[in-house]
Amino acid sequence: MAIDTLVIGSGAREHALLWKLKQSPRVGKLYVAPGNGGTALIAENVPIGVMEFDKLVKFAQEKRIGLVVPGPDDAFVGGIVDVFQAHGLRVWGPSREAAQIEGSKAFSKQLMQDAKIPTAEFKIFTDSAAALAYVRTRGAPIVVKASGLALGKGVYVCRTTEEAERAIQEIMVEHVHKAAGDEVVIEEYLEGPEISVHALSGGVTHVLFPPSQDHKRVEDGDQGKNTGGMGTIVPVPWVTPAMMADIENRIVIPTFEEFNKRGVRFQGLLFPGLLLTKDGPKALEYNARFGDPECQVYMRLLKTDLLDLLEASIDGTLDAIRDSIGWHRGFAANIVIASGGYPDAYKTGFPIRGIAEAEQDEHVVVFQAGTKMDNGQLVTAGGRVLSVSAIGSTLKQALDRAYAAADKIHFEGMHYRQDIGAKSLT
Ligand SMILES: Nc1ncnc2c1ncn2[C@@H]1O[C@H](COP(=O)(O)OP(=O)(O)O)[C@@H](O)[C@H]1O
Ligand SMILES: [Mg+2]
Repeated sequence: MAIDTLVIGSGAREHALLWKLKQSPRVGKLYVAPGNGGTALIAENVPIGVMEFDKLVKFAQEKRIGLVVPGPDDAFVGGIVDVFQAHGLRVWGPSREAAQIEGSKAFSKQLMQDAKIPTAEFKIFTDSAAALAYVRTRGAPIVVKASGLALGKGVYVCRTTEEAERAIQEIMVEHVHKAAGDEVVIEEYLEGPEISVHALSGGVTHVLFPPSQDHKRVEDGDQGKNTGGMGTIVPVPWVTPAMMADIENRIVIPTFEEFNKRGVRFQGLLFPGLLLTKDGPKALEYNARFGDPECQVYMRLLKTDLLDLLEASIDGTLDAIRDSIGWHRGFAANIVIASGGYPDAYKTGFPIRGIAEAEQDEHVVVFQAGTKMDNGQLVTAGGRVLSVSAIGSTLKQALDRAYAAADKIHFEGMHYRQDIGAKSLT
């Protein structure tokens, strides 16, 4: 029987999940709460917010939803999986307890320490005076992090002691990240290329996805402010199978083992962010869900039915399907198109043109994020607006197609990086 499915979220990540689920012969009706202008074209948008758990449960019960797939971090950290499970509904992803690995950087650093996972040296603070004294003795460069979820804005990579002092002031005294800054992690500054690793877990065994790479800074050459992510490639051509095995052995497996030791089942997606330093891979943090924009490129390259993967993750049967999981040959890339001003303040409501033209290339899919329909016109409604994805047999081909498509799109004030994947081309 077809499984009616509810995806929760409104980003390009959720659009990509829906796009992939839509291709499954076993998926029935597709709903998304709250969705965006693009998801409305392939699923039914339901006007319920990501954190309105009671309303979401009621909707799922009324529609006899067979599978719930939440996307965003705050939903998992807030315990959405526990709430759906308590009502006997089938839901994918980590419990509130497991999602602490993303919801609290203090928790995750402690876990890394317990499991002897390579990571930046660190100390945890709840008192600003002690934090200030620490950065003054350690000096710069140094990294100051609000422990909780801070919309991707809670990490301050500080080049000087003064910058670090200002970060502590903002987080701990002015409370700009509210309770997310009640605890602060101060850690050693690390150097090296950054990659994203995704491991789908069924609680006991896991499956590792190919390595991907996001581009966090808003401007070309990794300049400017940190963002939610400006573009991704998969796979990263210079990350060898031996490097992935090393990452799996030193970071992924010990993390799952530590959860097991603590009697916590981690079901869902573990996404450690890591730096490849000269001393080997080091974990920066964990996310407990698909990355956005990583998800978009994974969905373009994944051959296997996504429903099969999600169900095997829920049921803890990944081992049984491991050998049948396949990826298309070649590469996928995506370019995030953002509103003028993003990641700072930006205006919305500008008409978006050119998506159909961009998608005339059969290798291109435009996933939507901050968009909505306004009297029959698609307009901007958020910071990251579109994720223009393309596949190709080489990385260059995937990037060229994605950029050619992005160039056909227009809205007032739009900007996107011109150098996604560039460092991996040589
Ligand atoms: N110890 C570190 N050394 C150097 N750069 C870091 C360090 N920790 C974080 N960063 C940079 O800051 C970004 C955000 O940090 P991260 O811990 O991933 O937090 P979040 O994604 O929750 O904002 C990382 O993607 C990385 O580029
Ligand atoms: Mg991160």
